Amino acid sequence: MSAQQRITELRKELDRLNHAYYVENSPLTSDYDYDMMMKELEKLESEHPEFDDPLSPSHRVGSDITKGFTQVAHVRPMLSLGNTYSVEEVDDWIRRCNDLLGNLEGLKSVPIVGEMKFDGTSISLIYENGRLVRAVTRGDGEKGDDVTENVKTIRSIPLVLQGSGYPQSFEIRGEIVLPWKAFDRLNEERAFNEEPLFANPRNAAAGTLKMQNSAEVSRRGLDAYFYYLISDELPADNHYDNMIAARSWGFKVSNLMTLMDSIEEVDGFITRLDRERKELPVATDGLVFKVNSLRQQLNLGYTSKSPRWAIAYKFSAERALTRLRFVSFEVGRMGVITPVANLEPVLLSGTIVKRASLHNEDIVKT
Ligand code: IVH
Repeated sequence: MSAQQRITELRKELDRLNHAYYVENSPLTSDYDYDMMMKELEKLESEHPEFDDPLSPSHRVGSDITKGFTQVAHVRPMLSLGNTYSVEEVDDWIRRCNDLLGNLEGLKSVPIVGEMKFDGTSISLIYENGRLVRAVTRGDGEKGDDVTENVKTIRSIPLVLQGSGYPQSFEIRGEIVLPWKAFDRLNEERAFNEEPLFANPRNAAAGTLKMQNSAEVSRRGLDAYFYYLISDELPADNHYDNMIAARSWGFKVSNLMTLMDSIEEVDGFITRLDRERKELPVATDGLVFKVNSLRQQLNLGYTSKSPRWAIAYKFSAERALTRLRFVSFEVGRMGVITPVANLEPVLLSGTIVKRASLHNEDIVKT
């Protein structure tokens, strides 16, 4: 086998193992075997620079020479969603869609897809011929920053697509998130280095994505979920099937996505997910409901700010009561002392809270 063939083979296999590990959460091999293959690939690539590929799995570690971001106009503006805060408001929205679409089926509603609302920072990815060409932040909705180099370090994002049937050119939108575990680790490190803490995983994800050092981005452990496919040649005429197709190309699409066709089902989904989200490894701040049929989406159209065919339902902010065990005083790298509340462990938004920094004197006083 020629070096070029072996390089191609290793890249393919490493992409496949990556996907199993980071998207499916079911590793196919040991870390050792993975590392050995990666080493072999790196060696061959350094011996044969003529076969370099910027999307090779060996380039996911990033570099510390990312230069400033270029602004890129979105092909279609990135809109926001209308918010609702109660089951009744969601039900009203479904009835409104049914009325506007002239749905006369009585108990049956037009099909609705329910999804998690991931609390991160939105991203638009452009693929051509099965390869990632650009990743752009939401920015002001009309144009955003080209953060391709940073996004390439996110292991769950396919650089080269798997499977078949993807459009020659498409855009996929999703949310970049920092999982709770990575968020906690990052803040612990920052506390030790006496750097300001991130208030929540959303700020941490947004801040990380805009860093000028993709090697550091790679280290922080971002993840990404996808929820919207845009193309002139979509595989299906409805949102749900398009997302299932995207999943088969290697994207992480939440398996909590559910297709429903009655208001009762939607109400049940809200109750169930408000419970289940607490077990998730990432922060969520609500649910999103979308009219499934693309034809019906087109008929419902948009207001000036958001689609009429989709709506967000926001969870109420969680509070929990627990007992303060003791206050410890922790010394950072520069000798600054921060008081820390040590608590009886309590479950809050999917994470077990045992400690809380007491650096915000004004908040602590209230
Ligand atoms: S759909 C045109 N689905 O929430 C519709 N957005 O408040 C595009 N978000 O800008 C958005 N999870 O950043 C959609 N499952 C989901 C989502 C989601 C999180 C974010 C997204 C959007 C914001 C709107």
